[in-house]
Amino acid sequence: MSDLNLEHWWQPFTNVRAFREQPRIFSRAAGSFLYRDDGQDVLDITAGLWCCNLGHGRREIADAVQQQLMELDYAPPFQFGTAPAFRFAERLVKHCPDGIGRVFFTNSGSEAVDTALKIAYSYQHARGKAEKRRFISRQQGYHGVNVGGTSLQGLPNNRQGFPVLAEVDFLPGLLDIERNAFSRGCPKFGTQEMLKSFEEIVAVRGADKICAVIIEPISGAGGMLPPPIDYLKTIRELCDKHDILLIFDEVITGFGRTGSAFAANEFGVTPDMITAAKAINGGTVPMGAVLLKDSIQQVIFDHASTSAPEFFHGNTYAGSPVAAAAGLAALDIYESEQLFTCGSGAKGQYWADTLHAMSDLPQVIDIRNYGLLGAVSFDHAELPEKTLGPKIHQRCLDNGLLCRAVGDHMVMSPPLSITEQEIDLFAERFRRSVKQVLATGP
Ligand SMILES: Cc1ncc(COP(=O)(O)O)c(C=O)c1O
Repeated sequence: MSDLNLEHWWQPFTNVRAFREQPRIFSRAAGSFLYRDDGQDVLDITAGLWCCNLGHGRREIADAVQQQLMELDYAPPFQFGTAPAFRFAERLVKHCPDGIGRVFFTNSGSEAVDTALKIAYSYQHARGKAEKRRFISRQQGYHGVNVGGTSLQGLPNNRQGFPVLAEVDFLPGLLDIERNAFSRGCPKFGTQEMLKSFEEIVAVRGADKICAVIIEPISGAGGMLPPPIDYLKTIRELCDKHDILLIFDEVITGFGRTGSAFAANEFGVTPDMITAAKAINGGTVPMGAVLLKDSIQQVIFDHASTSAPEFFHGNTYAGSPVAAAAGLAALDIYESEQLFTCGSGAKGQYWADTLHAMSDLPQVIDIRNYGLLGAVSFDHAELPEKTLGPKIHQRCLDNGLLCRAVGDHMVMSPPLSITEQEIDLFAERFRRSVKQVLATGP
């Protein structure tokens, strides 16, 4: 595509100058593959950006979107409604833990996070606890790029240089290769450290000042780090003990990633709110959501005037009928192909076995998995710190494989629809790429 002018689109989280030197352009996609403009197939072991959980090019979603566009492309969501958004909300909450029965739609995960924060503030205010304004999140956590989410995130590059909310404390991150290396599923160590840190934060700040805790049940952009055993149950108990709301940011873990519809179901822990986006409609039309307990909405409603909106917040495209139609079609596929649970069945087992068989690769210091998530961590040895990941990433791409480098952790999140043959192809391309980079193979 030499006719493309690359100067005008400023791409997100991109080294634009390097990109212009060596453009990487995808021109089509089908099933588990993306195709580059030179025709090279690229196995998409990241499901786009953790969003195309159904694979690419689902005809049913395309048909639903087209039909919706022609029937009702848009109607304002402020003081009005459309059938697809109500239907989608009703069907979504059927997959949530009991008690979570309300949905506030947004356009992205970042907006879902900031919306959840504002709901949390409103809830505390409505029940006469307006002093509860502080948040607790976690090092290595990622909560999107809006001001609230930027303030909450524990990835230093994403915070530095921006004015952020000061009222945030961080629990320790989950990366502990020394003690937890090569765990299958939940690792052993980390829950006690979290508990200690949580109690310290409460002792210093005071429970009467803390509004909510927000964490990803599995840290995603921080390097795919599953929670240690009993971690999420303990955090729920701590929140209950100190009267603090618990928000699970499930923008990555939602929609079948873990082997259940949501990580909340998978780990048997009901948060007060869940933030979701990405795979909500298979990554096809921008959409996010806050899924929340009915009781939280009720407190806010009870406090609000009956002659005005109960919550002064919302976006033009919130609950877009087109995005919701895509969501309904996606849910049909998730349900009929039983994709929410495939990560905990035979496919999840095959994925875990394939990943852990990589331990013979050179410089591998950890392999982790949960559901259809995985990560292989490398020791950078002779190379300057954190340059191995990008090198492996580039070589994988050259060999027809898209995975993600987080420093020297290679992170994978295949489409849930991936086949065992495609998992084998992933292993072959990944192994070959690593060996080439480390010059130990062809
Ligand atoms: C856990 C988590 N929260 C929030 C977000 C932000 O979502 P979006 O990029 O749709 O704004 C992401 C994106 O990767 C995420 O992983």
